[in-house]
Amino acid sequence: MIELESLRKRFAMGEETVTAVDGISMTVGDGDFVSIVGPSGSGKSTLMNIIGMLDTADEGTYWFDGTDVTGLDDDEQTVLRGRNIGFIFQSFHLLPRMTAEENVMVPLLYRGVSEKDAREKAGQLLQRLGLGNRKDHLPSQLSGGQQQRAAIARALVGDPKLILADEPTGALDQATGRSIISLMKELNEAGQTIVLITHDLQIAQQAKRIIRIEDGRIVA
Ligand SMILES: Nc1ncnc2c1ncn2[C@@H]1O[C@H](COP(=O)(O)OP(=O)(O)OP(=O)(O)O)[C@@H](O)[C@H]1O
Ligand SMILES: [Mg+2]
Repeated sequence: MIELESLRKRFAMGEETVTAVDGISMTVGDGDFVSIVGPSGSGKSTLMNIIGMLDTADEGTYWFDGTDVTGLDDDEQTVLRGRNIGFIFQSFHLLPRMTAEENVMVPLLYRGVSEKDAREKAGQLLQRLGLGNRKDHLPSQLSGGQQQRAAIARALVGDPKLILADEPTGALDQATGRSIISLMKELNEAGQTIVLITHDLQIAQQAKRIIRIEDGRIVA
């Protein structure tokens, strides 16, 4: 599904240049569950932003499902991203004035799905993720783990080919974090392709495959 070849990304900081991603080549296959682990500042989020088409590399090539992403303009990348990638973040990023169900409906409404169909699909997904009786709650009325489940439902609702998760357990206590990771494992067993970014080796070890990065390079 994903093929990265010699990706490089630099940031100019005044006189200095930081090479955040320094020649990364890797592949992610259909049905894979890959974790990318490395210390703070090693380039994980920069790499995730490139894979997620939120940012572009300075050098190298990126193939997503047969499309050369580096050859697309911003609008084309936005379309490809919207159709294919679901995001999960450390801080959930739910819209505070919308209920859990409404949050999950948003990506479908963007795509022109009717409100009735969107509500039905969102409700079913929240049910499946154990939030059936919380769907009318606002994010502030949910625990951290429940908010992350709602965020996962929102990431999944458009049937993305890829789920990209950046420190999805970072804001959760250990037990809740473990339940989120086991949910991700279940989703992967059901066929969902997942790339999980973390600095926590214990979390990373739950994936099928671990890629370690340091200073923008793959070290193992
Ligand atoms: N927008 C930016 N401008 C300048 N430098 C940046 C920018 N984004 C990242 N960097 C630098 O690139 C390097 C990699 O940062 P990145 O955020 O990818 O690390 P990370 O592995 O995600 O770290 P953490 O575990 O702390 O989230 C760091 O040295 C960082 O300071
Ligand atoms: Mg980061």
